[in-house]
Amino acid sequence: MKPILSTVAIGALLISSLFITATATPWENLSSEQLEASLVKKFNEGDYSKKGADSCLMCHQKNDTVMALFDGKHGQVTNKKSPMAGLQCEACHGPQGKHNRGGKEPMISFAKDSKLSAPTQNTVCQSCHNDPEQMAWHTSTHNLEEIACSDCHTIHAAKDPALDKLHVNDTCTACHTKEKADMSKRSSHPMQWNQMTCIDCHAPHGSMSESALKQPTVNDTCYSCHSEKRGPFLWEHAPVTENCVSCHNPHGSVNDSMLTQRAPQLCQQCHAPDGHASRVTSEAGMDAFGGAKSCLNCHSQIHGSNHPSGSLLQR
Ligand code: HEC
Ligand code: HEC
Ligand code: HEC
Ligand code: HEC
Ligand code: HEC
Ligand code: HEC
Ligand code: HEC
Ligand code: HEC
Ligand code: HEC
Ligand code: HEC
Repeated sequence: MKPILSTVAIGALLISSLFITATATPWENLSSEQLEASLVKKFNEGDYSKKGADSCLMCHQKNDTVMALFDGKHGQVTNKKSPMAGLQCEACHGPQGKHNRGGKEPMISFAKDSKLSAPTQNTVCQSCHNDPEQMAWHTSTHNLEEIACSDCHTIHAAKDPALDKLHVNDTCTACHTKEKADMSKRSSHPMQWNQMTCIDCHAPHGSMSESALKQPTVNDTCYSCHSEKRGPFLWEHAPVTENCVSCHNPHGSVNDSMLTQRAPQLCQQCHAPDGHASRVTSEAGMDAFGGAKSCLNCHSQIHGSNHPSGSLLQR
C-alpha cells in the first residue's frame, strides 16, 4: 500500500502546487515551501519506478555510504515489511520523476542540509513506524522542537550508532553539550566510558513523564538502581522522598556525590544558618561547621534513618 504523507505544509501544498503547474518554475528557483509541497505531492501521487533500486544504483552505487543500506534492516529483501521488499529506495526518497536527468529534480532528502522540514521527513518514517511504542513521540519535546528521526538515526549503515550502547551517548551529546560537559565532571554517573547511557533514564522517543524519563517520576528513576534509598525509613528527610534532584545533578557535578552545591550551602538553601552547632560543639577549638562535610559530620543519615533516636538524621 502506498503511504500517504500529510504534513504541516499541506496548506502550502494546495496553494503552491497550483502555482507550480501554472508557471512551471525550474527546480532551482523554488522557494523551500514550494519545493516541500511539490515533493510531498510527488510522494503521495507519484509514479514509482518499476525497476526500483536498480534505476537509482545506476548512478549511486559508487557511493559506499549509499550501498551500506544493504547491510542494515532496511536493505533486507527477505523482510516483507522492509522498503527493499516494496518501493525500495523510493519508499523513503519518493518517486524518481525527472531526477534521473542529471539529478536536477530534487528527491526527498534526510541529509543535514535537507531543505525539507523535520515533520515532513519524519512522516516518511512514520508511514511504516506507527506502532504504539511511537505514540509518546507526538507530544515529546523532540517532536515539538522539530528534531528529525534522522538527526539520531543513520539508515545507510550496517549498524545504526543510535542503537549501539557504545555510541548512543555521542548521538545525544552532539546536541546536548551541557550534559556532555556535566558527565565529564569529577563526580558523575559512569557515562564517559559508556557503562551507562542517557537512555538508561530517558526515553528517546518521549514518555508521559517530565523530562522524558522512562519511569513515572525522578525518584522512581533513581530507585530503579539505588533501591536502598527508597526506604521507607522511620525518620525520613522530606526533600529526599520528594525529589532526589533537589540535591543531586543526575548528569554530574564538580562537587562530591554529584551534589548541586557543597554543604553547608546545600543545606542552607532550606535550613536557616542559625549556628546551632556552636551550642553543641563537642571539642574545644573545633569548628563543627568547617571541614569538608560540615553539617554531615553530625547529620550523617541524610537520606533517612531507621534508628529509634535518629529523628535528627544523626544516626
Ligand atoms: C542519472 C543519474 C541518477 C539517477 C538514476 C538517480 N540519481 Fe540521485 N542524484 C544524482 C545526482 C547527480 C545527484 C546530485 C548529487 C549532488 O548534488 O551531490 C543526486 C542526488 C540524490 C539525492 C540527494 C538529493 C537532494 O535533494 O539533496 C538523493 C536522496 C538521491 N539522489 C536519491 C536517488 C534515488 C532514490 C534514485 C532512484 C529512484 C536516484 N537518486 C536516481 C544522480 C542520479
Ligand atoms: C517501507 C517501510 C519503512 C520505512 C519508510 C522506514 N522504515 Fe525503518 N524499518 C522498517 C522495517 C521493516 C524495519 C525492520 C523491523 C524489524 O526487523 O523488526 C525497520 C527498522 C528500523 C529501525 C531499527 C533498525 C535496526 O537495526 O534494528 C530503525 C531505527 C528505523 N527503522 C528507523 C527508520 C527511520 C528513521 C526511517 C525514516 C528515514 C524509517 N525507518 C523508514 C520499515 C521502514
Ligand atoms: C533523540 C534521538 C532519537 C530520535 C529523534 C528518534 N529516535 Fe528512534 N531510537 C533512538 C534510540 C536511542 C533508540 C534505541 C532505543 C533502545 O535501545 O531502547 C531508538 C530506537 C528506534 C527504533 C527501534 C525499535 C524501538 O522502538 O526500540 C525505531 C524503529 C525507531 N527508533 C524509529 C524512530 C522514528 C520513526 C523516529 C522519528 C519519528 C525516531 N526513531 C526518532 C533515538 C531516537
Ligand atoms: C528507510 C528509508 C531509506 C531508504 C529505503 C533509502 N534511503 Fe537513502 N537516505 C535515507 C536517510 C535517512 C538518509 C540520510 C543519511 C542516513 O541516515 O544514512 C539517506 C541518504 C541518502 C543519500 C545521501 C544524500 C541525501 O541528501 O540524502 C542518497 C544519495 C541516498 N540516500 C540514496 C538512496 C538510494 C539509492 C537508496 C536505495 C538503494 C536509498 N537511499 C534508500 C533513508 C533511506
Ligand atoms: C538534533 C539535536 C538533538 C539530539 C541529537 C538530541 N536532542 Fe534531546 N533535545 C534537543 C532539543 C533542541 C531539546 C529542547 C531544548 C532542551 O531541553 O535542551 C531537547 C530536549 C531533550 C530533553 C528534555 C525533554 C523534556 O521534555 O524536557 C531530554 C531529556 C533529551 N532531549 C534527551 C535526549 C537524548 C537521551 C538524546 C539521545 C538519544 C537526545 N536528547 C538527542 C535536541 C536534541
Ligand atoms: C541517572 C539518570 C539520568 C541519566 C543517565 C541522564 N539523565 Fe538527563 N535527566 C535526568 C533527570 C532526573 C532529569 C530531570 C532533572 C530535573 O528535573 O531538574 C534530567 C533532565 C535532562 C534534560 C532536561 C534538562 C533541563 O534543564 O530541563 C536533558 C536535556 C537531559 N536530561 C539530557 C540527558 C542526556 C543527553 C543524557 C546523556 C548524556 C542524560 N540526560 C542522562 C536523569 C538522567
Ligand atoms: C541505570 C542505573 C542508575 C540509575 C537509574 C541511577 N543511578 Fe546513580 N549510580 C549508578 C551507578 C552505576 C553509579 C556508580 C556507582 C559507583 O561508582 O560505585 C551511581 C552513582 C551515583 C551517585 C554517587 C556518585 C559519586 O560520585 O559518588 C549518586 C549521588 C547517584 N548515583 C545519584 C543518582 C540519582 C539522584 C539518580 C536519579 C536521578 C540516579 N543516581 C539514578 C547507577 C544509576
Ligand atoms: C537533602 C539533600 C539530598 C537529597 C534530597 C538526596 N541526597 Fe543523596 N546525598 C546527599 C549528600 C549530602 C550525599 C553525600 C553523603 C556523604 O558524603 O556522606 C549524598 C550521597 C548520595 C549517594 C552516594 C553515597 C551513598 O550514600 O550511596 C547516592 C547514591 C545518593 N546520594 C542517592 C540519592 C537518591 C537516590 C536520592 C533520592 C531518593 C537522594 N540521594 C536524595 C544529599 C541528598
Ligand atoms: C530542599 C530543601 C532541603 C534541603 C536542601 C535540606 N533539607 Fe533538611 N529538611 C528539609 C525539610 C522540609 C525538613 C523537614 C522539616 C520539618 O519536618 O519540620 C528537613 C529536616 C531536616 C532535619 C530533621 C530536623 C527536623 O526538624 O525534623 C535535619 C537534621 C536536616 N533536615 C538536615 C539537613 C542537612 C544536614 C542538609 C544538607 C545536607 C539538609 N537538611 C538539606 C528540607 C531540606
Ligand atoms: C556538631 C554537630 C552538628 C553540626 C555540625 C550540625 N548540627 Fe544540626 N543539630 C545538631 C544537634 C545535636 C541538634 C539538636 C540539638 C539542637 O537543636 O541544638 C541539631 C539540630 C538540627 C536541626 C533541627 C532543628 C533545630 O535547629 O533544632 C536541623 C534542621 C539541623 N540541625 C540542621 C543542620 C544544618 C543545616 C547544619 C549545617 C549548616 C547542621 N545542622 C550542623 C548537631 C549538629
